[in-house]
Amino acid sequence: MSTHLPPLHALDLPEAAPPYLSTLRDGAPAWVVTRYQDVRQVLTDPRFVRAEDGAPAGDAALNVSTDPASLYNQNGSDHQRLRRTVQGAFTPRAVARWQPWVETVVGRLLEELVAVGPPADVVAEFTGVLPFAVAERLMGLDGLDYRQLRRWAACLTADGAESDGQVSQDQREFAKFAAELLAERRRRPGEDVVSRLVQAADEAGGIPEEQLTFLVGGLAASGSDSVAAVLANSLLYLLGERPGSWPRLAEEEQAGHATEWLLHHIQLGDDKFTTRQAVRAAEVAGVPVTAGETVAICLGSANRDPAVFPDGLAGDLFAPLPSPTLAFGAGPHYCLGTWLARTQLRTALHRLAARLPDLRLADPSAPVDWRLGATTRSARSLRVRW
Ligand code: HEM
Repeated sequence: MSTHLPPLHALDLPEAAPPYLSTLRDGAPAWVVTRYQDVRQVLTDPRFVRAEDGAPAGDAALNVSTDPASLYNQNGSDHQRLRRTVQGAFTPRAVARWQPWVETVVGRLLEELVAVGPPADVVAEFTGVLPFAVAERLMGLDGLDYRQLRRWAACLTADGAESDGQVSQDQREFAKFAAELLAERRRRPGEDVVSRLVQAADEAGGIPEEQLTFLVGGLAASGSDSVAAVLANSLLYLLGERPGSWPRLAEEEQAGHATEWLLHHIQLGDDKFTTRQAVRAAEVAGVPVTAGETVAICLGSANRDPAVFPDGLAGDLFAPLPSPTLAFGAGPHYCLGTWLARTQLRTALHRLAARLPDLRLADPSAPVDWRLGATTRSARSLRVRW
């Protein structure tokens, strides 16, 4: 049981400061960039690309964050074409159709939670299930058990330490499942997100099938794992440290502001840096960076930069942020799941607070048992009463 770790909003992060030279965990030198404006510049400056991390190339197995073939690790025109494809699938008309689907899933799970009765584990009954059940609905996977998606999510986001035989077997199984799903949706398109993806990819032309498989993996599994983690950690924070604010979330607009605030202050996991490499000589805040040098960007530090967010954690949960959050990154690799993440978090918090306005932690002083994912960390269980 891992209980000694600080909650994610209280993670020890470098303070916002001008760029400085340091060493990465693997011993390689890197410029550490922490201030909001500097981080934005590096993320949006075409002289910086996603650094090659030397991860082994995948065979039939998939790992969304480390496989060089995944969208996440691509650069340049192939990357842009792929992103346009996803954006082509997420048209306002499609999204407007999907919104009520999310509402329906939230409503169903909420009633199931209420039927279990207090004290209940809100992770087992609600936060840990919701994004997988939503993915199932969005992808039109009638009949597939969401627990299967959850198992695949665990292995698609597995880090090297977890890569035993079972993990790569699950990854292969997921690749096979995704390939069959893509073929099925091509034969019989519907209104679901996979059909829209296939259609957008076929219109764009020349998108390798492997890339589509990664996109399905991102949607179904790794993205859902991120949403589940942020939702559980948000509840832990709200009920543990801001219990007086809970009933206000019942109003949808307030839940929208709070969602943005929580995404901004509670990071996904313990990873502090995302790296980029300079392909040409550049300058960050007057500091020269030579071609080939690595830059380690700390999104969490930038989101705490007191020059931009002076109130920090003490700020009003329901006031709009003074500048856009960097929780989803920025520039060419800006998160593709923002609509899905924001919609689920806002809807879940709003409906939960409206249905259970006196929701509270059952054991406020109990230590948190953390579940460690490759990119996420979240409470493994949270007992609540109402
Ligand atoms: C609260 C939940 C989420 C958070 C905090 C989050 C955060 C991020 C961040 C910070 C990046 C950029 C990383 C970088 O530049 O190094 C990213 C990229 C990405 N995210 Fe998310 N994400 C979330 C949910 C999702 C969901 C639900 C999906 C899937 C639908 C998703 C799909 C992606 C993809 C495909 C990329 C790579 C985009 C590219 O490289 O072009 N994310 N995410």
